[in-house]
Amino acid sequence: MRELRTLYWKGGSLYLLDQRLLPHRERYVRCRGYRDVARAIREMIVRGAPAIGVAAAYGIVLACKTAGGKKAMLEARIMEAAEAIKSTRPTAVNLFWAVDRMVRLAKEAIESGLDVYETLLQEANRMAEADIEANRRIGEYGKGLIPDGATVMTYCNAGGLATVGYGTAIGVIRAAFEGGKKISVLVPETRPKLQGARLTAYELKRLGIPYKIITDNMASMLMSMGKVGCIVVGADRVLARTGHVVNKIGTLGLAISARYFGVPFYVAAPLSSFDFERKPDEVKIEERDEQEVLTIAGKSIAPRGSKAVNLAFDITPPELVSAIITEYGVYEPSGLMLLEKYARPHTG
Ligand code: MRU
Repeated sequence: MRELRTLYWKGGSLYLLDQRLLPHRERYVRCRGYRDVARAIREMIVRGAPAIGVAAAYGIVLACKTAGGKKAMLEARIMEAAEAIKSTRPTAVNLFWAVDRMVRLAKEAIESGLDVYETLLQEANRMAEADIEANRRIGEYGKGLIPDGATVMTYCNAGGLATVGYGTAIGVIRAAFEGGKKISVLVPETRPKLQGARLTAYELKRLGIPYKIITDNMASMLMSMGKVGCIVVGADRVLARTGHVVNKIGTLGLAISARYFGVPFYVAAPLSSFDFERKPDEVKIEERDEQEVLTIAGKSIAPRGSKAVNLAFDITPPELVSAIITEYGVYEPSGLMLLEKYARPHTG
């Protein structure tokens, strides 16, 4: 089986697998400039916290490519691109982590007279490689938590498509499966964008891992019937100071039910998804267009003129999280600041 490629760089352009079209069509969108990347993130052509971060890094590379040689112009263009890319989606911290890292590096390269484009391109390539490597390590650390024979529930899509490759939550499931454990997966469809039914199911099918799709509102009942061995989800932002986990809307409800019915609830996330500064009330939760709730696959489902609420993420408190699986090992939510020594600073 060929590995999924969420994104790749070729001939001075970034190519993104158009996730809006999956599972029915595999088509790549070419990004020639940073505005194309910003649009792709906003419209969820690329989505999932780590994938957004790396795409954003390549966006800064593209800004630099078209900026011309003058120092001041180059720096101004990079700052403009950084602002535009950061304004696309507010919740996944990887976006800010990646952009800040690229801006810092660009300033250093300008000051020391290095080839800024080459320096940034190499860094974006490194980030892409590092993401896959981090996910593999998360898989290795996490697979021991999955009992043989278990039915594992995941949520949204925290697989290869949400990252550069391999996946975080699906990486754990995949590592357990490839290690010989007989497991099957319950996939909540994840309204309104259906990342579970469309993307997670697509990935599990390609990997040959048995799965069943459920509607989101079946999850608690299945837990009450003893049909869920454990839950593994990804994260858009892990708040290291408090242990709160920001992830796709609906994660909080799963975690509450899991605690009530005694089902272990694990979060898999790389350090690039960690926020070592903020508290829960300082995180901006994305609100998306109400049309996403009022329609399914482009078809209206509600009386004309209906209003809707469309919060894209929620925040799960640490007391509901059994453990957090990172590329540096498995941590209790109360012990996440121990990871700060591995992190580089960022804002946003
Ligand atoms: O709105 P999305 O599809 O970008 O949300 C994605 C999620 O919530 C994922 O669970 C999260 O980014 C972790 S991906 C490894």
